[in-house]
Amino acid sequence: MPLKKIVVLVSGSGTNLQCLIDKIHNKYAQIVAVISDVPDAYALKRAENTGIAAKTFDYRSYQNKNLFYDDMLIYINKIEPDLIVLAGFLKILPEKFYNEYKNRIMNIHPSLIPAFCGKGYYGLKVHQAVIDYGVKITGVTVHFADAGADTGPVILQKAVEVFQDDTAETLQKRVLGTEHELLPEAVKLFVQQKLEIIGRKVYIKKSEAHND
Ligand code: GRF
Repeated sequence: MPLKKIVVLVSGSGTNLQCLIDKIHNKYAQIVAVISDVPDAYALKRAENTGIAAKTFDYRSYQNKNLFYDDMLIYINKIEPDLIVLAGFLKILPEKFYNEYKNRIMNIHPSLIPAFCGKGYYGLKVHQAVIDYGVKITGVTVHFADAGADTGPVILQKAVEVFQDDTAETLQKRVLGTEHELLPEAVKLFVQQKLEIIGRKVYIKKSEAHND
């Protein structure tokens, strides 16, 4: 069977993309394109270094922002991906993406959803809010994205301890380490067709029992 096709959307450094390249690409699935909404995202370099098509749709250069999304969707539709991964992509995609790719758009968020998520919670702001609130546990969530901000069905979550002397920066670094484990794991489950969505719950199909 040919490998499933993945398109990864990015806006920044792309360490999560790099993990997908290292752990998933050409093994469990093929990353066929990386798309950025900003021209200087380092993630684009990571794609180029691996020989993956790197495409920018520069959000700022579009006067009509609807056209930005239309152009991106036309480009993606030509590729016919099985899965779209939002790996640090900072725009909220409009409804038409979710109509065409229902339960096939995955997002990673650096907190335990539904805490510290939604509009305005991105980057260091998430971790600063965690510290300011004084919670002892935060973590990582991988979920199917929908037209809301961080509201779609949860696929995987993992907790990360908040230390008393953490700054937003130290916490971000530790949480990122866990993101790098969880995102490839979720993508692998998807391409192996082990995820079943019923309502807003995601069930993970168990592997066949071993006799040994
Ligand atoms: C990650 O923290 C991710 O959870 C969030 O944006 C960040 C992207 O980091 N959505 P990177 O570009 O993958 O290094």
